[in-house]
Amino acid sequence: MTELSSTETSPLDTARSLAARWDAQQTGYIRHRAQRFDTIARVVAGVCVDVAEPRILDLAGGTGALALHVLRHVPKARAVVADKDPALLAIADDLAADDPRLQTADVDLARADWSEHPAIASAPFDAIVSSTALHWLQPGDLVDVYRTLPGLLRPGGILLNGDHLSYSAQHEGTLARIALADDAAMQAQTFAGDTDTWDEWWQAVADVPRYAAALQRRSEVWGAELHVAPPKVTLGFHLESLQSAGFVETGTVWQYLDDHVVYGVTAPR
Ligand SMILES: C[S@@+](CC[C@H](N)C(=O)[O-])C[C@H]1O[C@@H](n2cnc3c(N)ncnc32)[C@H](O)[C@@H]1O
Repeated sequence: MTELSSTETSPLDTARSLAARWDAQQTGYIRHRAQRFDTIARVVAGVCVDVAEPRILDLAGGTGALALHVLRHVPKARAVVADKDPALLAIADDLAADDPRLQTADVDLARADWSEHPAIASAPFDAIVSSTALHWLQPGDLVDVYRTLPGLLRPGGILLNGDHLSYSAQHEGTLARIALADDAAMQAQTFAGDTDTWDEWWQAVADVPRYAAALQRRSEVWGAELHVAPPKVTLGFHLESLQSAGFVETGTVWQYLDDHVVYGVTAPR
């Protein structure tokens, strides 16, 4: 990919370019990411149909891609992008400079106090969304996050989490193989062109002097954890955890192979 020259572009243009490249890069790993985002946004719009100014929380929202997508479908909403990565949050902050509906919250979801951040503690939210992110949590931390969410949602509010929820190699071997092969085919097709891989995208960020300090903080925040994937959990684990957390309606609202959008609705008033 061509390098971004931050001397020729404004911080907003630089952030927009990196955000667009992020979306293309992520789509290389998630064949139907756009459908996943559309589904989440349309369901949020439905849940918020009678709400004058809906409040949305994007968990582990990175640059704010999903939050911004939801805001396109629900223009009267405001969204908080919660994440722990200083570099992704710096880009989200530059995007937020152009959109007063967007706000960031620097939080580590693996810490017990994450929901005390002022932007989050001012709940209730109408919808909490997440994409390609909660698999970064250890299973115990995921359960704790799910248990926190009903307290942050209004009655009848919704959680929507889109992520790869792996098939069990032992009990669902056929589809596990097909899903892995499909991912590999998608990545081969995408990255044979000029779309950034994960590493190339991060190099593009490193090429922007404005984000140097945030990248330095990034390596301090993540340390070795950045390279250690937690154990994978199944769809059943997510649904059981949501039910045990107190969500009264749970299920899958969209699926393509192991790519799912799971949801939970809190009890009505
Ligand atoms: C693949 S990115 C997805 C970002 C965004 N949701 C999207 O779909 O474009 C995974 C995100 O999870 C965030 N993340 C992982 N572990 C986290 C944690 N413990 N607390 C907060 N954010 C976390 C990362 O910083 C990163 O932004």
